[in-house]
Amino acid sequence: MKGVILAGGLGTRLQPMTRVTNKHLLPVYDRPMIYFPIQQLVNAGVEDILLVAGGESAGDFLRLLGNGSGFGLRHLNYTYQNGEGGIAEALGLARHFADGEPIVVILGDNIFQDPLEPAIRAFQDSPEGAMILLKEVPDPERFGVVRFEGDRIAEVIEKPPIPPSNLAVTGCYLYDHRVFEIIDGLTRSDRGELEITDVNNRYLSWGGLRHHVLKGWWTDAGTVESLYRATSLVAEDGENAVLHTHEQPTGNA
Ligand code: G1P
Repeated sequence: MKGVILAGGLGTRLQPMTRVTNKHLLPVYDRPMIYFPIQQLVNAGVEDILLVAGGESAGDFLRLLGNGSGFGLRHLNYTYQNGEGGIAEALGLARHFADGEPIVVILGDNIFQDPLEPAIRAFQDSPEGAMILLKEVPDPERFGVVRFEGDRIAEVIEKPPIPPSNLAVTGCYLYDHRVFEIIDGLTRSDRGELEITDVNNRYLSWGGLRHHVLKGWWTDAGTVESLYRATSLVAEDGENAVLHTHEQPTGNA
């Protein structure tokens, strides 16, 4: 299983903090935001990782992370997304890296308390279709939200004004190789992006969308409020084994 971390975008919701740096390089408590998704993948045994960077300070990822040796990796792969074409467009850049294998995708501004290993392992056991990770939230209108019919998902709706449930679609997705064919067929949404929600609905229409509900806390960190929340949650979590390595990775040393 290969891992893809999406860390492009212009971080407009975090201006002016993102005027001279990339959102994913901002601190969440005691470390840069991008450390969290990398650590999650490494903890789950995913060691072949592609980082999709973007914006004017993309080179700073290389200065910070180098070849990934601070996380115990042998190497780290990088690519670059021009502009802000959406999550699915960024993921499309991972086609050659994936090379027909199943992938786990994490949005670089998502922080999970739970280890991702159980979901990754469940997908690896039967690596077909797609799997999304859901979490109950108080403000589902900010996210992709699922509508259930009985115990099966009937629809995924992006930022519904009147959410049909309080189960948000978090920024961790598992896909088989068909994800790239789906991305090829997408059209841009009203916000000018290729939406990951459209990808998930396509798998749903094929009958191949599984889900896993997270128990621990989860947050994005892409707005001032959620970045503050992320910092507080990480701080309160103390020496949680999932989030923290024993030592802080020191970059490309
Ligand atoms: C994106 C997805 C949304 C998902 C969220 C998780 O939203 O479009 O479905 O719930 O990430 O963080 P965005 O951050 O692009 O508004």
